Amino acid sequence: MTKIIATPKSYSDIATKYCQIVLTEDKTSWHRLVEKADGTIEYRMGAGKWAALTPRQYRTLIRSIVQAAKQHQLTHIALQVALSDFPKLTEMGSEWFLRTLGENLELAQYEFRRYKTKRDEKNELQEILVCGISSPVEKQSFSTGITVGKAANLTRDIANTCGEDMTPNKLAVATKSLLKGTTAVVKILDKAAIKKEKMGLLEVVGKGASDGPSLIVIEYWGAGKPTKNKQSEAPIALIGKGITYDSGGLNVKPAGFMHEMHMDMSGGAAMIGAMQAIATLGIKKNVVAIIPAAENAISSESMRAGDIATSMSGKTVEILHTDAEGRLVLADAMTYATTHYKPRVIIDAATLTGASLVALGSFASVVMTTDDTLRDTLMRLGEKSGDLLWPLPLWDEYKQSLKSTRADISNIATNFSREAGCIEGGIFLSHFAPKKTPWAHLDIAPRMNSVVQDKLSKGATGEPVRLLVRFVEEY
Ligand code: BES
Ligand code: MN
Ligand code: ZN
Repeated sequence: MTKIIATPKSYSDIATKYCQIVLTEDKTSWHRLVEKADGTIEYRMGAGKWAALTPRQYRTLIRSIVQAAKQHQLTHIALQVALSDFPKLTEMGSEWFLRTLGENLELAQYEFRRYKTKRDEKNELQEILVCGISSPVEKQSFSTGITVGKAANLTRDIANTCGEDMTPNKLAVATKSLLKGTTAVVKILDKAAIKKEKMGLLEVVGKGASDGPSLIVIEYWGAGKPTKNKQSEAPIALIGKGITYDSGGLNVKPAGFMHEMHMDMSGGAAMIGAMQAIATLGIKKNVVAIIPAAENAISSESMRAGDIATSMSGKTVEILHTDAEGRLVLADAMTYATTHYKPRVIIDAATLTGASLVALGSFASVVMTTDDTLRDTLMRLGEKSGDLLWPLPLWDEYKQSLKSTRADISNIATNFSREAGCIEGGIFLSHFAPKKTPWAHLDIAPRMNSVVQDKLSKGATGEPVRLLVRFVEEY
């Protein structure tokens, strides 16, 4: 763990143990480590032409600094950046500039070490001193960034953990412990309670596993809890897919497509992280997060292809493919959110389809909604936060293929076509969204794993925590 500390001091007033980061206008591939006459070390690093630096490049630059420090085994670095040096960033404002700095320093220092037995502590990056942060407003913006970055790292910890160590019940326990000390309230519905709520889809997906399923509910009443005498502002509902391991079920996944499926709860983990940040920051909004958690396992109890289950909404679903499990658990969670909380907006995030990666590659999650304003808002905040989104349509034309012969709807196209696989996932969910409530579906499978261009350590990205926090603040 790297300590990240803000100080009003400048490079000339800090201890000599800090290696000072000096940005130049050289190409980003250029760098030099320089020992100065007074014994201090300077790391000079190309940032490209400053006048051309875009918000996206700024985030990558911050991460590159941390990566470079790690590569050179620098244990203490000092960093100072000024908004006025980068004309293309000025319109984003100082709050964004410092918050983005905090977020991305945190994200970049993160490494998942839970299963590593050896470490070289004395050569690790121990401290990043961020200089020139003086006013209370500046400190505030920076520390908000740290809080959000840390929350995204909690999300990464959960997502990176093995399926064995993060079963539905263990996920529920982890959620409680992560939100302890905040004003958020965690409620857990076990298998019996799920049955009682008639959540037949969540039940059927979890049936094959020895642990779970469970429904994790996190309430946060930052704008005031409703009481007998007082109605309160309707909450924002955040729903996250919590498949703690996705073997595919009886339609088992082939080798090479299964070993990363402990990350199939990335959507749920993002909601837990976002709630942790929202509650820690004390945002004055009402938000409820719902995480349907289950393991898609193989046993004699598993759901079968061809089984028909009744959803909480009452609609029957023909399970044509046991590997399209995410949409099943999400459908019941959407009904649960609607009936219990009457939310003013619903956002779900799920590693729902491999097809989303085929469509977009690994640089953006898919956003699907029929609400143009909501789509615009989410895409704008995606660009602002760095959790990028790109849209696919939810047109009625796509609805035909899910019409089941024996039940109300099937969970994949009845002709087993893989065309528009990502959209079909969204279309399935749209049948369970309330008619008059704005709803958006984020297929975050493209961002489940980091890619080299991210300048992050390998594994979970913690997306879209930054976006969700911004959304709750601004919606
Ligand atoms: N969790 C997977 C989707 C996934 C694949 C996420 C790769 C991240 C990386 C999901 O449950 C799944 O198996 N989807 C199927 C749907 C199909 C059966 C319609 C898929 O994408 O193949
Ligand atoms: Mn699956
Ligand atoms: Zn899945």
